[in-house]
Amino acid sequence: MRILILSRNPSLYSTQSLLRACYRRQHYARVVDHLMCDLLIDDNELSVIYQGEKLEGYDALIPRIGSSVTTYGANVIRQFEEMGVFTVSRSDSILKARNKLRCYQILASNGIPIPKTLLPNFAQLDNMLIKEEFDLPVVVKLPESTHGLGVILSESYQNATSTIEAFFRMKQKVIVQEFIAESRGSDLRVLIVDGEIIASMKREAQEGEFRSNLHRGATGRIEPISEKEALMCRRVCKILDLDVAGVDILRSDKGSLVLEVNSSPGLEGIETITGKDVAGAIVRFIEKRLRKRNKYLVGKAR
Ligand SMILES: Nc1ncnc2c1ncn2[C@@H]1O[C@H](COP(=O)(O)OP(=O)(O)O)[C@@H](O)[C@H]1O
Ligand SMILES: [Mg+2]
Repeated sequence: MRILILSRNPSLYSTQSLLRACYRRQHYARVVDHLMCDLLIDDNELSVIYQGEKLEGYDALIPRIGSSVTTYGANVIRQFEEMGVFTVSRSDSILKARNKLRCYQILASNGIPIPKTLLPNFAQLDNMLIKEEFDLPVVVKLPESTHGLGVILSESYQNATSTIEAFFRMKQKVIVQEFIAESRGSDLRVLIVDGEIIASMKREAQEGEFRSNLHRGATGRIEPISEKEALMCRRVCKILDLDVAGVDILRSDKGSLVLEVNSSPGLEGIETITGKDVAGAIVRFIEKRLRKRNKYLVGKAR
């Protein structure tokens, strides 16, 4: 197979791990920076042009789309989708998962438990609504935060309100969320490929920190998840139509809650901590899907 990996940086661990998995399974693979791709639509013909070269003849796409370039990345993926290239993550699903509010709306309406969340927009900022709805401390976060940057713990309503005001002044939306104190600075990262739980780990924030992102100095260790949590993760993937995802879970007194869904989950932490071959699972998934698809196409041609 000919596999194209969309990634801004070929030297990143995740990109390298995917490349190695492709080579190990005898596939041709190439890394392309999606921000260096131009999209041409000409008389019903779509093409992706990379530094003057038309990208043609690829069987599958593995998008590794970072948070800062989701919209353009999704445009590039959609172009490939319309060109008939199989993609591990579809553009619509990536966009749904990326924005926390949008993701919560979809998950909650499908019965998935999430932390109580508010998107303030109109309420006066001497903010009765926050006082009425949330106990202290309260979490204020950017709908598109990443690596824990843009996630703030406010110990007072006054602090929450002035934080929100500051973001509003910069024309930046924020969400307010109940703080799940019981999780004690830890969360679970569950890696799912094709509806199967490939790996799971617990991440624990460093001393004096409530954010359990590895990028914020948290440590990780293998942690099994319950049958109920596994079921919930599979349902999340189904609802968002994601075949590869990192689902983050907070264990609360009310049960396990979905905190976040990552459509391009980092592989370094989960592979090195759990020893599981996530990249290999992704490549095997592509093989399986393409076999199915080719069978269907051959059947149709007959
Ligand atoms: N409502 C919350 N209650 C408890 N801890 C939280 C809450 N929201 C975020 N955290 C902590 O902060 C970390 C980062 O928050 P998250 O919403 O995942 O943003 P990011 O996308 O930047 O990682 C989480 O992994 C978790 O440890
Ligand atoms: Mg997170």
